Amino acid sequence: MHDFGPINPRLPTLWHGGDYNPDQWPPEIRKEDARLMKLAHANVASTAIFAWSQLEPRPGEYDWSWLDETFDRLPKAGVSIALATPSAAHPRWLTALHPEIQAVDRNRQRLPHGTRQRFCPTSPVYREHVGRIDRALAERYGAHPALVLWHVSNEYGNACWCDLCAAQFREWLEERYGTLDNLNHQYWSGFWSHRFSEWPEILPPYAACGVVPDGLALDWRRFQSHQVCDFFKHEAGVLAEVTPEVPITTNLMGFYDGLDYAKFADVMDVVSWDSYPRVGGDPAAVACTHALMRGLKHNLPWLLMEQTPSSTNWMEHNALKAPGLMRLWSWQAIGHGADSSMYFQWRRSRGGHEKFHGAVVAHAGNESPRVFQEVAALGEEMDRIGRQVVGTRVAKARVGVLWDQENRWALEGSCGPSRQKRLLETAVKHYRAVWQNNIAVDVVRMDADWSPYDVLIAPMLYMVKSGRFPLQAAPEEMTARANEAEKIEKWVAAGGTFVATYLTGIVNESDLVYEGGYPGPLRSMLGIWAEEIDMPEPGRGANAIVMKKGAFAGAKPRYKCERVFDLINAEGAKVLATYGSNWYKGRPCLTVNPCGQGLAYYIATDAEEAFLADFYRAVAAAKRIVPVVRPAAGVEVLLREGPDRKLLFLLNHAAKSRQVSLGKVRGKDLLSGKGLNGTVKLEPYGVRVIECV
Ligand code: GLA
Repeated sequence: MHDFGPINPRLPTLWHGGDYNPDQWPPEIRKEDARLMKLAHANVASTAIFAWSQLEPRPGEYDWSWLDETFDRLPKAGVSIALATPSAAHPRWLTALHPEIQAVDRNRQRLPHGTRQRFCPTSPVYREHVGRIDRALAERYGAHPALVLWHVSNEYGNACWCDLCAAQFREWLEERYGTLDNLNHQYWSGFWSHRFSEWPEILPPYAACGVVPDGLALDWRRFQSHQVCDFFKHEAGVLAEVTPEVPITTNLMGFYDGLDYAKFADVMDVVSWDSYPRVGGDPAAVACTHALMRGLKHNLPWLLMEQTPSSTNWMEHNALKAPGLMRLWSWQAIGHGADSSMYFQWRRSRGGHEKFHGAVVAHAGNESPRVFQEVAALGEEMDRIGRQVVGTRVAKARVGVLWDQENRWALEGSCGPSRQKRLLETAVKHYRAVWQNNIAVDVVRMDADWSPYDVLIAPMLYMVKSGRFPLQAAPEEMTARANEAEKIEKWVAAGGTFVATYLTGIVNESDLVYEGGYPGPLRSMLGIWAEEIDMPEPGRGANAIVMKKGAFAGAKPRYKCERVFDLINAEGAKVLATYGSNWYKGRPCLTVNPCGQGLAYYIATDAEEAFLADFYRAVAAAKRIVPVVRPAAGVEVLLREGPDRKLLFLLNHAAKSRQVSLGKVRGKDLLSGKGLNGTVKLEPYGVRVIECV
């Protein structure tokens, strides 16, 4: 997993460039673009992303002229090409010829031609046409030395509810459950008389269906994701056949809820994603999203495929990035393992939906605007130190937050115990609590190798998969890897510290509740039984966590908690804290249970951030995990390392200057060339990349 090569040896430095759509611009502008790219120190352009109607203006009639010219001109300016496949937006003539390629919505309405990402991923006709144009692109440009990456489609996110998808869904279910009896049992379908007696009776959960079994609704989400992933495999398969040596990606969207990205990552050579945080938002949430994206491919380098150089144009309010902010966020991504900073868009579009979206080249069309100057200055820095950064990886974290998209679908799809579960918010809250202590933390897949981690945090692991489904899995595949309870227990017994919260261990992978009380298969490991769950209205029932003496090092006597209150019974676990009020005052709300060489904690309530920060500091310290440098408010500290170097990133997210005490760390700031030790003063949004000695 830890190989230290660049993403593509043809471009062995940090990638800097933009989403470049030359097809609508006249030759003199394209010429000017090459000059401006040179000035901006751009070395890569992601090209032709939505260009199908320009590549193939009429069925079978191709116009390669502008793309040929791009492949000719850009490399002369030192710019490589990440070439896109155009499947995200198909031409109108294709819909006119084959209306059935358009997706159907959950009201069973065939959608007219309109916005992008509106195709049916099952449609054999669409697959055929996409395969044809992808192959034509690969055959024409595959051998070109400037081609460094396939950018497949764009931000897949289709959902289709057509009859073809429904038929495939039934086949997918048949493979998963084998028999209808099995499926009926897993869905508990007798409830409200949903029992199925023939496969064709199973329908997608159309809007008008209202309530269907939770297991069915969950499986439909899984299937929709599976089908889009299968479409991606189809595209990737065509490209890999023609150009096996060119790496393949598709740009993802962070915590996007529609797809299970873990499955997509297994098809990609390199993960890439589009980061559009709100100006004024929480840097920890961005950090956590970078960690999620990095974890998909087990911490290999990834690409920041898009960010805006200045503002977005699709939010309700679109603030500009103040001077320095774009640079800070770019280095933040790199500190989190990105080997690039790339922008949407290179040149601001003259028309269409995104004509006000930030761009490297503004409508003014030259190099004078502030934004261009900042991009060029960053490009110069990336150019200067890129080769020293590439070849390093984010240093191995020993703490991880577990994230499973299927768990999210199940938990949030379930009506009770209360509608609002706030899983993502909670995961970020736990992540932030570790992160703000300057302790490296990953976001980890359920099926990853957990052996590098000492502490794993599982916020609301409501679903714990038994590994029984899909049924066709060979027995040897049904190992502890698939049975999550066994996997967790084994990992803890070997010495890990596991932190579970309320709403854990309740259902299996079909959303069927485990018998015998919560937290189901984790009950004996956690040494508790969660008897009832209290989730009152917001603002009501606020409570206190009253700590027992010596519960953990540095604990305050009391902390606040709110929203969720599990009423648990200790069954062998040691009680570390109890509720401070309400009729359940005195009942445990924080426990720890030994298991083999390890420890299993249970946090029964939604604790305030101060609790989590103190708790994780103590848990980490008990494992001798210490911050590289002492935390300073608003300053993020990240470490990348390679076989022969260590790079420490100091990132000041505050609009004020900050002091950071380096402790024993000393080295040279690669950006300024200055030697650093003792205390470093960071200017507002300041960045240091210190090569440690
Ligand atoms: C996404 C898309 C781009 C563009 C930007 C604008 O990342 O991939 O095509 O729409 O958003 O914010």
